[in-house]
Amino acid sequence: MAFELPPLPYAYDALAPYMSAETLEFHHDKHHNAYVVNGNNLLKGTGLEDKSLEEVVKASYKDEKLTGLFNNAAQHWNHIEFWQWMKPNGGGAMPGELEKRIVSDFGSVDKFKEDFVNAGVTQFGSGWCWLAVGADGKLKVTKTPNGVNPVALGETALLGCDVWEHSYYIDYRNRRPDYVKAFVDSMVNWERVAELLAKAS
Ligand SMILES: [Fe+2]
Repeated sequence: MAFELPPLPYAYDALAPYMSAETLEFHHDKHHNAYVVNGNNLLKGTGLEDKSLEEVVKASYKDEKLTGLFNNAAQHWNHIEFWQWMKPNGGGAMPGELEKRIVSDFGSVDKFKEDFVNAGVTQFGSGWCWLAVGADGKLKVTKTPNGVNPVALGETALLGCDVWEHSYYIDYRNRRPDYVKAFVDSMVNWERVAELLAKAS
């Protein structure tokens, strides 16, 4: 299946002041689109043309002949999800079931947020921080370099934050901690996270 750029699920200025229209225009129209265009070019002739995006990500991970395809396909998957992990007037209270699981696996919502922000801040260079369901069924916070994601690692992603500079440099300059904190406090679509947790359980 050829990769396609999905439209943003909200207006470019919908996440302001936490993420500006300028950031979303560049991030979606230029960066995400480049992963789609490059991914489609690199997919040609691999024999993976008919596979789903998840299958392409899994099949190309750690295959040194397919590194370019992996980087673009994984980033395509990451960004499709990333747009849906945010919403206007995001953040705030979590749906009850999700909050219960977070408190049970991390001790408190604040501890989870602290771990998540810390993972994003300490990811050296480009990458992502995640809330994922691990192989043992417990929720965990992780971080990955570049495009690597829970799909490649055989885990289920519930939430991910893009900590590549292109995601925050226009609005936050070098202040990555402020950006990740604004993401968890004011941008996350917790209903979407709860939906993914319900699907994973
Ligand atoms: Fe990005």
